[in-house]
Amino acid sequence: MEREVDFLVIGSGLAGLSFALKAAPYGKVCLVSKTTLDDTNTRYAQGGIAAVIDEGDSYEKHVADTLIAGDGLCNEEVVRMVVGEAPEQIKQLIEWGTQFDRTGDGAFDLAREGGHSEHRILHHKDNTGFEIQRALSDMARRHPNISILENHFAVDVITQHHLGKLVKRYHPDTECYGAYLLDIAGNKTIAVPARVTMMATGGTGNLYSTTTNPPIATGDGIAMVYRAKGIIDNMEFIQFHPTSLYYPGEKPSFLISEAMRGFGAVLRALDGTEFMYKYDARGSLASRDIVARAIDNEMKVRGDDHVYLDATHTPHEKLKNHFPNIYEKCLSIGIDITKEYIPVIPAAHYQCGGIRVDRHGRSSINRLYAAGETTCTGLHGANRLASNSLIEAVVYANNAATDAVAHFKSYHIPKNIPDWNTEGTAHPEEMVLITQNYKEMQQIMSNYVGIVRSNLRLKRAMDRLQIIYDETEALYAKSTLSVKLCELRNTINAGYLVIKSAQARRESIGLHYTIDYPHRRQQELSIENEPSKNKH
Ligand code: FAD
Ligand code: SIN
Repeated sequence: MEREVDFLVIGSGLAGLSFALKAAPYGKVCLVSKTTLDDTNTRYAQGGIAAVIDEGDSYEKHVADTLIAGDGLCNEEVVRMVVGEAPEQIKQLIEWGTQFDRTGDGAFDLAREGGHSEHRILHHKDNTGFEIQRALSDMARRHPNISILENHFAVDVITQHHLGKLVKRYHPDTECYGAYLLDIAGNKTIAVPARVTMMATGGTGNLYSTTTNPPIATGDGIAMVYRAKGIIDNMEFIQFHPTSLYYPGEKPSFLISEAMRGFGAVLRALDGTEFMYKYDARGSLASRDIVARAIDNEMKVRGDDHVYLDATHTPHEKLKNHFPNIYEKCLSIGIDITKEYIPVIPAAHYQCGGIRVDRHGRSSINRLYAAGETTCTGLHGANRLASNSLIEAVVYANNAATDAVAHFKSYHIPKNIPDWNTEGTAHPEEMVLITQNYKEMQQIMSNYVGIVRSNLRLKRAMDRLQIIYDETEALYAKSTLSVKLCELRNTINAGYLVIKSAQARRESIGLHYTIDYPHRRQQELSIENEPSKNKH
């Protein structure tokens, strides 16, 4: 088949681009974006990318910080691997043309963020992601072995199911042979058969009404792999970034980087009180779950719509120089951050769970790899440490490419991959229903599956989501395909997984905080304290 490729890469953020660049010397790569090549979460990353660079820092410290943030649920072997491989991958990013800021003497200008015990964040001003995306996109556009398909939406991965062998639940022999893509301009769905498929579709921020993520973050990869009966883990751990700009009506919510707190900015209530020390000895530099919950609590107790971030006492020229985009953005809405406090609220920011992968980036479906925010690698556990996402994406893309390159020649593509089945789907989509259901899904998740959860709220969420699910599946069965319909379906699938995982976890831990169950450590304490156990 003419469209056959060696490596089909779905997603053009840091994970997809770096996998494509690593695989391209060995075979034909097709790199897919549902919009344009640079429209990714990666492009929005501000603070930077974590790696042990400074002599005063150590792998042990980065490992320890990651494990503490992960609240006991990280896979320590994975943490050690990512931290250990990070400096090499930073070198690779620089070789590909990424510029990180340096001090006057040529050393890297390392920043510090919440949860980090050392300065170890490489950055480019306050738009690190934009710089990485620029450099890698340039490389990919120029590579002769990479063909780029923009405005192509991956609808489903191709497995034995499409060859007529019903795959009803997870089976270790399930194989992936590429994907069906909706060619948006051509309004047709095509099969792209591949020896190896890489899923790098990013996060799920748009499950929520307020998010720092651009509209592309709709959990498509997680939903596709779930429908193909692959294994998905840890979906309950949604990270809410504590400080997004409070500017009602703007989407996505503009991020006020955590690096500003690393730079010395502090959180204040509307009456000016610095409240964080009530919650954690690290004050405004506590890890994100703690800071987001503290802000949520202060807002609820005080009845306020937001809190403030105060950077007015930091050195003004340095502040403007390190955070030019934040400075300009705030100025554009009338706030001079050198003189005035910045109004901030928490916003859905990062999905810690996702497609289960092993240390080579292999999913539970053969020949299907995954990397980046769409995955659950074991690095983040119950809560991601700031700036550990970009480094995870590039380390796993490298490991996955190494493994895929070693094996792809032995993978054969079946000759009988059918065209996309359009039987019974001649009806035009009902756009009103799609947009209403999308908003309703976001409201359900925001109201009932947010920073503080309960059994009752989760049940409400599940009952209400079920209604939208039934309506959407009925619509999907009879309608012609559209991006909006597919995204609605995917967010409902991903939302279902978040709620189901949250219901299954009967403890508060990391980002999953419920009023019905105490933290694991408190549970252990109360068991130890039971009179019957203390008899001796
Ligand atoms: P993305 O960069 O999101 O790329 C996803 C790609 O998949 C896109 O090309 C998209 O078009 C494509 N895609 C999705 N679905 C489909 C489909 N169905 N068909 C075809 N293509 C599809 N992390 C850090 O480590 N440090 C930071 O400083 C930092 N700052 C951040 C600031 C903001 C505002 C945000 C939103 C995130 C930040 N993060 C940060 C998180 C980090 O940016 C992301 O986790 C990371 O960039 C994800 O990279 P990725 O390659 O996995 O996915
Ligand atoms: C930020 O700059 O605060 C975002 C960092 C991250 O999400 O890792």
